[in-house]
Amino acid sequence: MGYEKLFSPIKLRNLTLPNRIMRTSMVSGLATEDGHVTPELKARYQREARGGVGSIVVEAAVVLPSRSSYNLRISDDSCTEELRELVEAVREANPQTRMGIQIMHFLKIAKSGWRQKVTDFKPEDLPVIVEQHVAAARRAVAAGFDFIELHMAHAYTLSSFLSLTNGRTDAYGGSLKNRMRLPIQVYQAVRGAVGEDYPLGVRINGEDFTIKGTTLLQSRPIARKLAELGADFISVSAGSRFEDAPPPPPDTPPDPMSGYSGHRMSPDWWFPDLTHVYLADPIREEVRNAGYDVPIVTAGKIRTPQQAEGILEAGKADLVGLCRALLCDPDWPVKAEGDRAKEIVLCTACNWCLESDSRMEKVNCSRWPEGELNAPSPWQRNRARPSAIGKEVEAAPDE
Ligand SMILES: Cc1cc2nc3c(=O)[nH]c(=O)nc-3n(C[C@H](O)[C@H](O)[C@H](O)COP(=O)(O)O)c2cc1C
Repeated sequence: MGYEKLFSPIKLRNLTLPNRIMRTSMVSGLATEDGHVTPELKARYQREARGGVGSIVVEAAVVLPSRSSYNLRISDDSCTEELRELVEAVREANPQTRMGIQIMHFLKIAKSGWRQKVTDFKPEDLPVIVEQHVAAARRAVAAGFDFIELHMAHAYTLSSFLSLTNGRTDAYGGSLKNRMRLPIQVYQAVRGAVGEDYPLGVRINGEDFTIKGTTLLQSRPIARKLAELGADFISVSAGSRFEDAPPPPPDTPPDPMSGYSGHRMSPDWWFPDLTHVYLADPIREEVRNAGYDVPIVTAGKIRTPQQAEGILEAGKADLVGLCRALLCDPDWPVKAEGDRAKEIVLCTACNWCLESDSRMEKVNCSRWPEGELNAPSPWQRNRARPSAIGKEVEAAPDE
């Protein structure tokens, strides 16, 4: 099987991605506690690039100077040089892989259980948020990244402005138009800084999966507006909101992954494969009907090349986002292209990786040999540890 669509190139503005496989952003826990690049972090992305992925969105890099343990930083100029070294190291590993970075502004949380809300920002704080994104974007360009993804999904600041749970009563809350005001200001200011030729994408939630959270009723017009503004891709994710998270144990910060919404971002093994394609599809239809050809990325438990090709063939998305599947087997793309799909070590959606992130440990995969920080090379099914959650999900559904 050739997987012709999956291995066809696609353009983001003037940038050509060699194939349709995008490694979506994944916090790795491999940065230092204060957010600096480490040799382990470089090695993780190099390993993934060697496996033939067309584009990588480097993990959410923080744009504000507040403390956020082990999250990569792009919040001051001293970060630029080490990020440039990261980009160069990955280019050395595979010059074809295009490198992007996700930039993120987060709402602060405390061990006491307190978490910041969008209503806590004073009007004079909002231009600072815009400026922090702009400065981070300039650093990303200076570091040599091929593209930027603005994080407007999950539990973070811009997504929280978009949500109906945004309780502001000024021009930044209330109607969808008002709730989109700050995200649009960020998009436009970053676009102004990076210029018309630089690829700038956005990640949004197709659905928040919380009461009064974003649903397709809102995410479709949000995507249409982003397309109208000239976004170069729209990556459709879901969930990971705090609103339905259970109260954390004493002296532990709230965990956005602990409620139902949290379980939707990286769907566990009990969800159907291709969990979020049904969100990307109508969003794509919405922007196409409005006359925009902006590529749409779908991610969420896409396990096999056959499934990925099927999504593209059916016109439900333009790029296939793989996160855990590529962590588990970074050689997924070369194996698929080389007619060796049966050799792919399949992600079983056990979410060991996600849980290690919640525990603030280095993110790794339960199928790798114990103690490793990367998949071995070569990497074969018969060397993989059995799935943490049972035999039935180890086999590919289309085998
Ligand atoms: C450990 C871990 C960290 C993640 N970090 C991010 C992140 O920084 N930004 C983001 O947008 N999504 C993040 N995600 C979500 C993934 O990008 C992806 O959307 C999700 O896991 C579903 O795709 P998958 O089934 O291929 O893993 C993370 C997921 C995991 C498992």
